[in-house]
Amino acid sequence: MADADEFEGAGDFARDVRAGLAQAQKVIPARWLYDRRGSEIFEAITDLADYYPTRTEVAILVDFAGDVADAVGPGRAVIEFGSGSSTKTPLLLRAVAPAAYVPVDISGAFLRASAGALAADFPGLAVHPVEGDFTRRFALPALGAPWLGFFPGSTIGNLTPAAAVDLLRGWGGLLGAGSWLLIGFDLAKDSGVLEAAYDDSEGVTAAFNLNLLARINRELAGTVRLSDFRHLALWNAAASRVEMHLEALRDTAFEAAGQRFSMRAGETIHTENSHKWTLDAVRLMGRAAGWTPVTSREDAQGWFSLQLWRRDAGGMQP
Ligand code: SAH
Ligand code: AVI
Repeated sequence: MADADEFEGAGDFARDVRAGLAQAQKVIPARWLYDRRGSEIFEAITDLADYYPTRTEVAILVDFAGDVADAVGPGRAVIEFGSGSSTKTPLLLRAVAPAAYVPVDISGAFLRASAGALAADFPGLAVHPVEGDFTRRFALPALGAPWLGFFPGSTIGNLTPAAAVDLLRGWGGLLGAGSWLLIGFDLAKDSGVLEAAYDDSEGVTAAFNLNLLARINRELAGTVRLSDFRHLALWNAAASRVEMHLEALRDTAFEAAGQRFSMRAGETIHTENSHKWTLDAVRLMGRAAGWTPVTSREDAQGWFSLQLWRRDAGGMQP
């Protein structure tokens, strides 16, 4: 067995896995779903018929980008949080005539490849990728242009509402008075639609979730038998969120990051929350975080909302 000391300083992933698997309800934070393989599988999810959020948000952005440009004006530095493949980004950049683009993502290799591809499509645009955890403090490149934050995908829904408010408040301070934030929210809807989106018929979301165990084996000298686990997607109505879990199919034991863990059949590791909102809750959250919701656009079914918020001097509004 690998010694626990070997993983001292091995970083936040080892620490989070060790701490999370020691809890009564085992948990691993969702950001660890995104190594290079995880980012690639997520991209495959975005093309699935069952996964409606990406195509719905893209259609809204096509329709809404002109209004966003009119509101924010040209010459902004666009910072995208959780930029992934930056596939939606050109729709925004073409509309707002930015001064620079700063994609921020925890999935470093995927970020660099995506930023390179985008830079090639926008010759003359300054592109400054930042690898890191956007929930932590990080330094912005000094670009001398006012900021436009972009946070698509409803990635905000992967945080609890309290953590989301804290994060958005922090970004208000980071981007400063006079900045704008264009942010996507997946809205509450029929639970059958949600469960199909998170447990798709082609098994791609299951592969995304199970890749976390493969990553533990790859990076933390893990001995997890993937065939002992299955992907679960559950609608938690009380918390208005879809939860992803990895369920042990039988009693099982494994090593990870130098420690031994055992699980009983039926026990789960909670790997992701994906909160779904009402429009009132979205606007309340913006105000609680010190942003002013200015305008928004939804699709005809009311499944997804793109919100444009402004950060005024002084933060909290009445
Ligand atoms: N913006 C894209 C990708 C969304 S997937 C879209 O709308 O389709 C979520 C992205 O956020 C992934 O690329 C993932 O690597 C990144 N991510 C998740 N948690 C993060 C964190 N805490 N810090 C930085 N990036 C994170
Ligand atoms: C990135 N995030 C908003 C996605 C979501 O829908 O919560 C991640 C995802 N998980 C399963 N499918 C997609």
